[in-house]
Amino acid sequence: MHAIDKKDSTYLYRQVFDLIGENIASGTLRPGDRLPSLRRMSLSAGVSIPTVRQAYIELERQRRIESRPQSGFYVRHVACNDIVHPAPSSSGEPVCLNCRPLMVRVYDGINQPDLVPLGIANPTLAKPAAKTLHRSMKRVMSRAEERSLGYASTIGEPALRRQIAYHYLDSIGVQVEPEQIAITNGGQEALLLALTAVASPGDVVAVETPTYHGLLELIDSLGMLAVEVETCPEEGVVLGELRRTLEQHPVKACIFSTTLSNPLGVTMPESDRRKLVQILEEFDTVLIEDDVYGDLRFDGVRPVPAQFLGSNARIITCGSFSKTAAPGYRIGWLVTDVFMDTVMRLKRAFSCSSGLLQQLTLADFLASGDFTRHLKMLRPVLKCNAERMSAMVADHFPAETRISKPVGGSVLWLELPANIEAEDLFDDAIEAGISITPGQIFSPSNRYSNFVRLSYGHPWSDKTEDAMRWLGRRVGELAT
Ligand SMILES: Cc1ncc(COP(=O)(O)O)c(C=O)c1O
Repeated sequence: MHAIDKKDSTYLYRQVFDLIGENIASGTLRPGDRLPSLRRMSLSAGVSIPTVRQAYIELERQRRIESRPQSGFYVRHVACNDIVHPAPSSSGEPVCLNCRPLMVRVYDGINQPDLVPLGIANPTLAKPAAKTLHRSMKRVMSRAEERSLGYASTIGEPALRRQIAYHYLDSIGVQVEPEQIAITNGGQEALLLALTAVASPGDVVAVETPTYHGLLELIDSLGMLAVEVETCPEEGVVLGELRRTLEQHPVKACIFSTTLSNPLGVTMPESDRRKLVQILEEFDTVLIEDDVYGDLRFDGVRPVPAQFLGSNARIITCGSFSKTAAPGYRIGWLVTDVFMDTVMRLKRAFSCSSGLLQQLTLADFLASGDFTRHLKMLRPVLKCNAERMSAMVADHFPAETRISKPVGGSVLWLELPANIEAEDLFDDAIEAGISITPGQIFSPSNRYSNFVRLSYGHPWSDKTEDAMRWLGRRVGELAT
């Protein structure tokens, strides 16, 4: 049951949108059915006509309804290439990174200015926190101008570590000691420190497949080998496959995103996260949990990182403010107890400490409540963009295209017709002023040659829609 609740903090238009959406999903409204007129809906839902219009426009934008001249709004017939999931892939042998030159081309390509940024996963663009962060920084500068320009301690600013601990308490109800939190230069340095603390050159590291390409470059740069573990688009790491991999290979550490992964946008069920902790304990294998997206589930329910689901001390959680506040600040963190001394030795040697002004600014941003308010606004924008982009893929890409159904984050993962080379599509798209990320770089063995990752983490615009139409057309041409 769903009714409009004026006391709810959700926008009224979004409530009308959800009301109609749920009626379509349940089959009460079928393809071809006429929706209540704007006036009627406004009277029955007790909201204004412009509010209903805004909801209908959004539903139309997402291709769920269509307007017919002089007649009203109707439920659309769903395209036959409706959302399905990419087929799961299987695990293999430990390998060195096999796509270094492509990785370089992708980074060069996507960082060109003025491209439609479908290749960059920067969700903060969708709803920038610039104004509130600026306010926080001004407050910090007026309070501690000289201090804020100095060195931070190696473990990081106590005020920020306290705020991160509070955020864990507030969002998932667990107690983390600020002494167990170390501030890093982004999530990437957290992963670097964690991996260097627990593994050495030549060691085997297990990763999800597909996985974040920056992780693969990291493993490769440390002279380690990556082994891919089959990952299901709905439930994450397949535990049976993980067990098989651990039995067959001397895996030193696993780096998984169990809370919200990139590029699949999947959360492992909590029961599986608990089993994962047990399996890794059994094999005495360290888990490094890449949790940089955990705060961005569309439903706002924050999954609990595996570290807090049992008593396994050999787990390190890596977080970051890059996906939720400001990637340019380069502030992340890691949570560990038993590895802290090693991590501190490495942090001193690699980068000494992280920017103090940014740490103090983020501490103020969290303490003021602005961070929580910002997340509340960011998540629905990302959800809406995900729906719009999925609808455009269904409408404009060839029928065989398969598409992930993320539960959060800022990217879609597409499986294109089998004969498409994503690398070629990448080159064509850059020339047309659009960045995308080709699938190969999400696997150390170049597995996903006909996959692409598209980011919806930016303000939706006509340019985005033009780019999606162009990509769909180009994929269609390359497929024939
Ligand atoms: C899954 C994942 N982990 C880690 C990182 C690195 O985060 P940061 O930008 O904070 O270094 C990224 C950035 O894209 C990512 O997508």
